[in-house]
Amino acid sequence: MEKSKDKEPTFSVFLSASEEGNRRIGCEMVAPLMTLLLLFLSYVTATTSLHNHEEHSRRNLLANGLGTTPPMGWNSWNHFNCQIDEKIIKETADALVSTGLSKLGYIYVNIDDCWAELNRDDKGNLVAKKSTFPSGIKALADYVHSKGLKLGIYSDAGYYTCSNKMPGSLGHEFQDAKTFASWGIDYLKYDNCNNDGSKPTTRYPVMTRALMKAGRPIFFSLCEWGDLHPALWGDRVGNSWRTTNDINDSWDSMISRADMNEVYAEHARPGGWNDPDMLEVGNGGMTKNEYIVHFSLWAISKAPLLLGCDIRNLTKETTEIVANKEVIAVNQDSLGVQGKKVRMEGDIEIWAGPLSGYRVAVVLLNRGPMKMSNTANWDDIGIPPKSVVEARDLWEHKTLLRPFVGKLTATVEPHACKMYVLKPKA
Ligand SMILES: *[C@@H]1O[C@H](CO)[C@@H](O)[C@H](O)[C@H]1NC(C)=O
Ligand SMILES: *[C@@H]1O[C@H](CO)[C@@H](O)[C@H](O)[C@H]1NC(C)=O
Repeated sequence: MEKSKDKEPTFSVFLSASEEGNRRIGCEMVAPLMTLLLLFLSYVTATTSLHNHEEHSRRNLLANGLGTTPPMGWNSWNHFNCQIDEKIIKETADALVSTGLSKLGYIYVNIDDCWAELNRDDKGNLVAKKSTFPSGIKALADYVHSKGLKLGIYSDAGYYTCSNKMPGSLGHEFQDAKTFASWGIDYLKYDNCNNDGSKPTTRYPVMTRALMKAGRPIFFSLCEWGDLHPALWGDRVGNSWRTTNDINDSWDSMISRADMNEVYAEHARPGGWNDPDMLEVGNGGMTKNEYIVHFSLWAISKAPLLLGCDIRNLTKETTEIVANKEVIAVNQDSLGVQGKKVRMEGDIEIWAGPLSGYRVAVVLLNRGPMKMSNTANWDDIGIPPKSVVEARDLWEHKTLLRPFVGKLTATVEPHACKMYVLKPKA
């Protein structure tokens, strides 16, 4: 979470627009040059500030072996905000198992802001909030582990977290990392509120070192909201990095986060992922088709799949979306290459990315208010033009009998998408 909800990361928006220009059909010749120039300028801007830090750490600080595929699980923030307690966390763990979601890969149970007392104990340790987490975090971790799941926790690279209701870890990184490890924590989301004004590239690597010394592999999720282009340095520091400010449960917020995140596609890889923020599927603010777009874009973007709804009472509709094994398989594919926009024509977009086994994942997206025809050309999505292709529709769960040559066309409803895995026939 964060406080500055209105603040847009201006540079990535800028880049988005220029890339869009570059990819549009029939754009002026000047667009590619402008794009190069802007990319160069943005790189210089973002990296000059890193040089001091880089003197000390040219190699990866983080070698925890985690995140070979994007993390999957649940986080308390999007649905519960600060209204959390140990009962909700335990019931969520129970529900992840009883619904079968844990078997599909949703194994992280992540506690967000507001789990600790405002004051540290007399030795300077973080203390679980007595009124809401009376059994303590260690007991909760034991419970979650007994279910075959993993427990995540939240802190902040500042003096207080974003809620101002608990301390941050700035200046206490080594002590807090040790505490987390001693409790059995498996995942740390690290926010950016109430800091000392120094750069994230100064503050975040301190926690990286602390986690590496803590004696337990802990997935490190950087949440500096994309402010200092973390895609350019995050892979040395964390297992994932937010590329955007907070999502909310609306179409505009969701789709704009997907856009901002897409710009950095080249930087994602096994062990380090772009993070457009957690899922809102099931929270009620979007239509079923819009939530399908949300889940499809997060999957093809190799984003963390962290559910943000109340798992204890999932509707049939929400379950149908988040338990779609075929869409999850795209996200978890071993190749780990983030899909991107390969063509944009008005409200119509083609997103595509390679999968293992010479397959290609494709999303045909309609962002507009009217039903549209949408075509993926082999040329655009990296399939040899003469290839005969078998298409699997991941939302209809049907293999289309007709073999496709050169392109695939479908009609797409407003604010909706189709998603396929295409497999060239030998
Ligand atoms: C959600 O985000 C959208 C787009 O970023 C913004 O226009 C809207 O005001 C936000 N809604 C709330 C309730 O914050
Ligand atoms: C969801 O389930 C929990 C516990 O099972 C319950 O307390 C809560 O009221 C339910 N919410 C809704 C909207 O049904």
